Amino acid sequence: MKRLLLLFSGWLLTLFATQAQSSNTSNFNNDWKFFLGDNAAASAVDFNDISWRALRLPHDWSIEMPFDSTSPTGVGGGALRGGIGWYRKTFFLPDAAKQQHTFIDFDGVYMNAEVFINGHSLGIRPNGYISFRYDLTPYLKYGKEKNLIAVKVNNLQQPNSRWYSGSGIYRNVWLVSANDVSVDHWGIFATTPLVSEKQATVKLEIQLANRSKHQSAVVQTVLYDAASRPKQTQSSAVLLDGRQTKLSQQFVLSDPHLWSDKDPYLYKAVTQVLVNNKIVDEYTTTVGIRYFRFDTDKGFFLNGKPLKIIGVCQHHDLGCLGAAINTRALERQLEILKGMGINGIRTSHNPPALELLDLCDKMGFIVMDEAFDMWKKSKNQYDYHLAWDEWHKKDLEDQLLRDRNHPSVFIWSIGNEISEQWAGKEGKDTSGRTIARELAAIVRSLDTTRPLTAAFNNPWPSNEIYRSGALDLVGFNYSHKTYKDFPKNFPRQKMIATESVSALQTRGHYDMPSDSIRRWPARWDKPVENANADLTCSAYENCSAPWGSTHEETIKELLKYDFVSGMYVWTGFDYLGEPTPYLFPARSSYFGIVDLAGFPKDAYYLYQSLFTDKDVLHVFPHWNWNPGQMVDVWAYYNHADEVELFLNGESLGSKKKTGDELHVWWRVPYKKGTLKAVSKKNGQVVLTKEIKTAGTPARILLTADRSTIKADGDDLSFVAATIVDAEGNMVPDANNLVHFSIEGEGMVAGTDNGHQTDLTSFQSLDRKAFNGLCLAVIRSKQKAGTIKLSATSTGLRNAEITVVSK
Ligand code: GAL
Repeated sequence: MKRLLLLFSGWLLTLFATQAQSSNTSNFNNDWKFFLGDNAAASAVDFNDISWRALRLPHDWSIEMPFDSTSPTGVGGGALRGGIGWYRKTFFLPDAAKQQHTFIDFDGVYMNAEVFINGHSLGIRPNGYISFRYDLTPYLKYGKEKNLIAVKVNNLQQPNSRWYSGSGIYRNVWLVSANDVSVDHWGIFATTPLVSEKQATVKLEIQLANRSKHQSAVVQTVLYDAASRPKQTQSSAVLLDGRQTKLSQQFVLSDPHLWSDKDPYLYKAVTQVLVNNKIVDEYTTTVGIRYFRFDTDKGFFLNGKPLKIIGVCQHHDLGCLGAAINTRALERQLEILKGMGINGIRTSHNPPALELLDLCDKMGFIVMDEAFDMWKKSKNQYDYHLAWDEWHKKDLEDQLLRDRNHPSVFIWSIGNEISEQWAGKEGKDTSGRTIARELAAIVRSLDTTRPLTAAFNNPWPSNEIYRSGALDLVGFNYSHKTYKDFPKNFPRQKMIATESVSALQTRGHYDMPSDSIRRWPARWDKPVENANADLTCSAYENCSAPWGSTHEETIKELLKYDFVSGMYVWTGFDYLGEPTPYLFPARSSYFGIVDLAGFPKDAYYLYQSLFTDKDVLHVFPHWNWNPGQMVDVWAYYNHADEVELFLNGESLGSKKKTGDELHVWWRVPYKKGTLKAVSKKNGQVVLTKEIKTAGTPARILLTADRSTIKADGDDLSFVAATIVDAEGNMVPDANNLVHFSIEGEGMVAGTDNGHQTDLTSFQSLDRKAFNGLCLAVIRSKQKAGTIKLSATSTGLRNAEITVVSK
């Protein structure tokens, strides 16, 4: 939801010449100064910050740091340091702005942000994941006098989050100007109380703020369809009383175009507030029309049809870009996930970036929006439990107010694996019940249109949070083997697997025999023994954390029971921190279906074969082994009855999935050459895949995900560098050091290779390939032109690619 246009806010236009819109919400990311360290004097207007670094937000200073085995964040935090940092920004407001009220909105600052305006402290916000606003009006200066915003960010005490948090003003900042009468902050709540294929009611509950003596206003809302055609208008004359006035408007649409994961159709409600016939505010609300329910026996239904939620948990970092929010980086993650049939996102374990929810609205994901990873009892020494008493109510309310208009949000989660699930040694601690009831009441006071869950790792009815009776959905983390007992253990309850799987995989690494499963470590509280000396995990489906399973193990249980509404796999992408089962130098997770750089692991195609309409035949591993070695060859396939495998033209037989099998496999004596798989339906070839033994590395191949990007200083092109042999086959174990260089109107925002133990800084232009691949992320500048990225490596033919920035 965004405010657009304020007819007489021309001064903002002058102030932010780069913003081409007449808007009363202006991006406030440009021209900040930054200092890493503490200096109590830095809140003062006249403090000299000349030596500070100039930068543009969003910014995450931790990602710029070297990996460090002694970092107090530990490997859980990605072995990247936190600390204290200061930001300052000077700005001027024209005299005309005196007539208005000016606010600053922070979408997220990690953490303990103390904001000062012209030397006055506006408060400290401990929660690093929440969005917050301050009213600057009483402290502002106009005309030639300058204003100074200073922000102290304190992420010193560690550890304080699971997992990598990032540090700094890592989400967007906005300056908002409002007239005396305006729509209040997060002041519109859109719901769709009655929906059928034939007719839908859209209801807007509107809260106006009145900071004047005005006594009346007119509120007019036009509901537009996705092609911006006005569908209906409602106009209300409003008597303004006191400071806040509430009203509601209702629209009845026939033949509504419903929102779904496959067809995420969005309407838009544009609300104008008029005082004395002048438009004083305009506020745009995204509206998605859909109806859904969770059924005790049959699981989830969207718009009347059953739908299994095949979701993933995502932690908020963007790999080598760190926590600094970037819409394109998020969009790419979601595109990659869509490509394997994922239809749900869990914002584990914190309020997400707004941009994520906007994208999920547009792209069609069923979001579980999660509030907390702990309540009053800690998981880490300095985590949010310290702020719990003072802040949980406000933080939860703000999350609800901010996120409740997103049609993609379907479930509120009030917590992940909360310690208050257990009643304690003496069985007398009932705080889980009390807190769950309190949180549920907060949620329901602001939204009754979505069910509420909590993610349990205590999957028994004695769970104190369950016993609160406050949940709509019982959320299971793991425990896939007890899904079957759910109806017995939790009679008449609805169920969702809030978290599942936790398979461990390194892209392109294969441990045989593939049919024996490694649980690493053997128990959750034990160190890993007998794991791989090179800190890899096998990308066959044969390695997982002991509390979880392989992907296949859980998927089989999920598909067996209709009452399991769906699952959110831990995780879609690898993330920084939590390198289970290893310790330093491992510094990022092995749980992703996609690695940290965005390269899919093989399990990606398992999901694709099951949950998309695409024809899939994925054969692995690579074909570079030792002569005579027995190699397990796996294939995921769909839309076919069987797969036949050939080595150098000789058939190794056909295999078909039987029972609940999700893949086929062969044990093959290795001979160099070509492995070919052919999937067939009724004897007709559906797909053919070949893997060839690669020779030695010969050249670099560059492929950009986008060859034209926007010249806005934010847009990105992700360029993969593949090390290939003379014939163009990827060399599966190539680890050549690649040097990137860039010319023109772009910069390299980060490099990566998806290797969990690579300690080269993400800022480095030198990046070793890992198992044949590495990545450079190009970021545009705020100037159009061409961008040329070159990649060189000793002994290899260079490569070059051009991206246009417009
Ligand atoms: C879960 C937890 C996640 C992550 C995951 C790793 O128990 O909720 O935050 O730690 O385990 O398997």
